[in-house]
Amino acid sequence: MTAPLIYAHRGASGAFPENTMRAFEEARKAGAAGIELDVQLSKDGQVVIIHDETVDRTTDGMGYVQDHTLPQLKKLDAGSWVAPSFSDERIPTLNELLQWMTEDGNSITVNIELKNDVTQYKGLELKVLALIDTYQIEDRIILASFNPLSLKQVRALNPTIETGYLVIGKADYAVELTTEIGADAIHCQPAYALSPYAEEAKQAGFPLRVYTVNERDELERLTKAGIDTFMTDHPALLK
Ligand code: G3P
Ligand code: CA
Repeated sequence: MTAPLIYAHRGASGAFPENTMRAFEEARKAGAAGIELDVQLSKDGQVVIIHDETVDRTTDGMGYVQDHTLPQLKKLDAGSWVAPSFSDERIPTLNELLQWMTEDGNSITVNIELKNDVTQYKGLELKVLALIDTYQIEDRIILASFNPLSLKQVRALNPTIETGYLVIGKADYAVELTTEIGADAIHCQPAYALSPYAEEAKQAGFPLRVYTVNERDELERLTKAGIDTFMTDHPALLK
């Protein structure tokens, strides 16, 4: 049996501030095959890496991401909420992340979640694809979203980039919708991966990537069920 592929969820977010360059670098150092991160648009149309639609939980600021310009977002402290020693962490841009991916010795894969299921960011897909194109690293990127229309748009704009449709729970619609939007994989929770729907997905040719697995025994149970790719907050532990 080959070793499971570990993707660090929002970077090594179990021990470092999520979705920061520090969390991404720590995941790389821990030997993760990939990282997962979330992107949204700032008020001035820049692609920024942050999970929530507001900055309240993970920075010292307040308000919606889309109501802040990039210079305003860059002033926020995105690390102290975890520990004072992380006070230099800032909200990264996708451009910074892609640059980091092309540094010597960095071969990590990146799963970019288009966070447009709550706020509809007009043009997010096109901007993300254009940035990836600049760095010519499409083969190290997976685009994922809970919003099927967003992935359908990605597919219309780019017929080859790998995409994963994100579903919650035992999503009986997953195979049908993944087929309809032309996505390549299903990103699901353990409940789906351990249900009969997993076999349906396999028959349809859709690999499953499972989020968010933080316990070793759950990883082992899923591995026995044939799952080989996991998102975790603790890449070092699961490795
Ligand atoms: O990639 C799976 C996972 O990131 C989706 O949930 O809320 O952590 O973005 P969330
Ligand atoms: Ca995510």
